[in-house]
Amino acid sequence: GIEKSFVMLKPGTLQRRLVGEILLRFERKGLNIVAAKLMHIDESLAKIHYGEHEGKDFYKKLIEYTVSGPVLAMVVEGDGAISMIRQLVGPTEVSQSLPGTIRGDYCHHTRLNLVHASDSPESAAREIPLFFEPQEIISWDDGNAHWF
Ligand code: CMP
Repeated sequence: GIEKSFVMLKPGTLQRRLVGEILLRFERKGLNIVAAKLMHIDESLAKIHYGEHEGKDFYKKLIEYTVSGPVLAMVVEGDGAISMIRQLVGPTEVSQSLPGTIRGDYCHHTRLNLVHASDSPESAAREIPLFFEPQEIISWDDGNAHWF
């Protein structure tokens, strides 16, 4: 079914001027960008978003990195979008991420992995409202959709 995923291009994506390269991968897959917002998120939002990682050894640096510069927060929609996007992004552990995935092609450090994407429908339902009001999400019809 049609799903919405929360996707965040992290500060390193903007700093390395990789926004276009990464958006291209979502677009050419046929996914719909239904919300996008450039944000410099504060520590409290970063901590809520990454709450499940509190106490882990990488947590403090993860929060510092997340607030170190602007991010591009997005909602990306499509049939089975949540798992499809995780496939495009590649596994969290960069040593497992294969060439052809975003993390496999652009990252050599797990913490600085450029992109966050919801890992389940439950995560997407929790994460999207942290960053977007309902009226900021604009679903649209694709005139070519009848080909799929
Ligand atoms: P993300 O998908 O945004 O979700 C949690 C983030 O924590 C993850 O990407 C990485 O940036 C970071 N992370 C997860 N596991 C590790 C790890 N083992 N070492 C360092 N950072 C990690």
